[in-house]
Amino acid sequence: MMITPSARLLALPGYPLAELPSIKRRLLAAGKDIIDVAAGDNDTPPPQVAIDALKQAIDNPANSKYGFQQGHPEFRRAASDYVHRRFGKRFDPATEILPLIGSKEGLAHMPFAFLNVGDVAVMPEPGYQAYLGGTVLAGAEPYVVPLREEKGFLLDLDEVPVDVLKRTRLLFLNYPNNPTAAVATPEYLEHVVAICRQHQIVLAYDNAYCDIVFDGYRAPSIFEIRGAHEVAVEFFSLSKSFSMTGWRIGFAVGMSNLIGPLTTAKTYKDTGPFLAVQEAGAVVLDHAEELTAPICAEIGRRRDAAVPALRAAGFRVELPKAAMYLWVALPRGITSKAFARHALEVEGVMVLPGSAFGPAGEGFFRIALTVPPARLEEAVIRLTRALAGVQEDGGGQAA
Ligand SMILES: Cc1ncc(COP(=O)(O)O)c(C=O)c1O
Repeated sequence: MMITPSARLLALPGYPLAELPSIKRRLLAAGKDIIDVAAGDNDTPPPQVAIDALKQAIDNPANSKYGFQQGHPEFRRAASDYVHRRFGKRFDPATEILPLIGSKEGLAHMPFAFLNVGDVAVMPEPGYQAYLGGTVLAGAEPYVVPLREEKGFLLDLDEVPVDVLKRTRLLFLNYPNNPTAAVATPEYLEHVVAICRQHQIVLAYDNAYCDIVFDGYRAPSIFEIRGAHEVAVEFFSLSKSFSMTGWRIGFAVGMSNLIGPLTTAKTYKDTGPFLAVQEAGAVVLDHAEELTAPICAEIGRRRDAAVPALRAAGFRVELPKAAMYLWVALPRGITSKAFARHALEVEGVMVLPGSAFGPAGEGFFRIALTVPPARLEEAVIRLTRALAGVQEDGGGQAA
């Protein structure tokens, strides 16, 4: 018997360092101390009000029924209120808000809602892999645009050839950005919205990190840009804002003619998030400002411990205004894969190599600010040794 996966599945790039978790398991089993700053999954607990609300919600048998796409009316109401409070824009809870099983799910379903075979989706590289996965699995064509340091890691649509732009129906954009931690200026967003309107491109604006901000920076909604509501769907996540990654809850916002197709695509694939989680999510969204403040303060302390330590050790890294990552440059001649493997195998620090986010991520590695300041300082000491070690080994260029 000859059973093969679909050509679309086979067309997906393999995760470049798929072996990292198994190396970590082996080292842990051998008793090695591992500092894992690879995944964007904070060590801080979820808010107590979320836990209490979930416990209560679970006692109500109605919450054990299918949520369907309509979901919990309270969650839609709370999501709409949150967007209104935060960004001054009002969206109808019934038709312009859509509960998601985490924002990744909604992002990955966007191509199924808006793309035909042969249509193009433009996306950043380095970038969140759900954009690529959703596009390829939907039979559409990804066009990746490198995020360049000299352009502030802002995706430059002028790099897309006009004939490609004409076939483009969907653009993925993510600021505050994972993995570069870059933020977008209003002028940049105005330019992007103008091009999307001109070419009738749906803009999937991934705002998963809008609540994780430092030093008074405020991450805008795409809907603050004039005309954006006609082309944009914005994605919000409760994962990072409230340390609730495993709860799988987020939501999409947009005009009903854009939310409608995404709802239909999802109807054939899932039956909505657990209603009890939606009920707890509503409580958290209603208290967003007070709940995110301590999380931002803690991630800020981590940033302020790690960045000076990295710089003192000779690494080049920006002080981020938002998100929970440090995007650290490697010296020329060192591949991020060789560095990440050496850092884990020899020094017990798990970082993500830039190449895990696509070839344009080469030359960098990502630290997630998911462990306390003292652990980050220890991580930097070990990463400094790892850099020296991998340089002695020849940098991995020939590997
Ligand atoms: C840029 C970006 N978007 C979306 C997500 C997905 O978050 P979730 O599916 O947990 O809401 C992540 C998670 O790491 C992310 O980094």
